[in-house]
Amino acid sequence: MKVFKTSQSLVEYLSIETRPLGMVPTMGALHLGHLSLIERAVEENQSVLTSIFVDPTQFNDKNDLVNYPTSIDEDLLQIEKISKKILVYIPEVDDIYGNIVESKSFDLAGLDQVMEGEKRSGHFQGVATVVTHFLKTFTPDRAYFGEKDFQQLLIIDHINRSLKLKTKIIGCPIVREKDGLAMSSRNRMLTPDQRNQASKLFEALQMVKSNAKKVPYRSLKTSVNAFFEKQDEITLDYFMITGPNTLKEIHLEQPVDQGRGFIAAYLGKIRLIDNLDMS
Ligand code: PAJ
Repeated sequence: MKVFKTSQSLVEYLSIETRPLGMVPTMGALHLGHLSLIERAVEENQSVLTSIFVDPTQFNDKNDLVNYPTSIDEDLLQIEKISKKILVYIPEVDDIYGNIVESKSFDLAGLDQVMEGEKRSGHFQGVATVVTHFLKTFTPDRAYFGEKDFQQLLIIDHINRSLKLKTKIIGCPIVREKDGLAMSSRNRMLTPDQRNQASKLFEALQMVKSNAKKVPYRSLKTSVNAFFEKQDEITLDYFMITGPNTLKEIHLEQPVDQGRGFIAAYLGKIRLIDNLDMS
């Protein structure tokens, strides 16, 4: 396994690496969800690059940034178990941003105006800044992103196409814990009680899916609100069903079986998100 701290040394090394190159950007604190992306990249490419970088510009909440979990040594061990050939990029902030740590401004075609974008102002401009930096600097043939962050996946795909970058963006399925909770680096910050309750997000999405053909969206929304009002440990932030790839909320009288359900909720200060295809 080769670890690079600067993009310059990595770009030099990449000039002799065999193509195709697959890239998996991460913020570390790796779990099986991240590892599934890396495994897929290893299966489909001659060379694989993964990055571990907690991007400051995509955090609108400074506390969230300060408390974001890190476990570099463990992360490296897990990556090495998949393959010793994987290249790992672990930069400092200035290697990406220089002295000016701020995001660029991208036209995200309104995809950043709803859900995570609406709740976390500037978040997707930060994501777009760091991801386009990776794609332009390392020119991977394929880049892998999880459907766990479905809105992020659509936004990255949009920006990749609108900037006519050469990378193919590949979406990968959500990896879940046994009780259905979507794996997330943030899960390790939950207390045991909160962890027990956290699977309610997936439970709610499944409840909606199983009634998707029977009742209109309006009644499902009411049921989801009622379901979370009964939970002491969880506060619903939003629940929404959108068209499959549009991120536009469907009509209240429409059946939901063609769309995708999105949910965000707080357990104490920890905010979790999940989504599920309703078809
Ligand atoms: P991070 O949250 O570390 O996630 C890295 C990648 O792993 C993302 O593509 C995310 O969708 C995927 N992922 C996370 N949990 C998953 C799960 N349970 N199943 C499948 N995939 C999962 O997302 C980011 O980092 C950052 O925004 C980044 C793209 C690296 C830019 O800074």
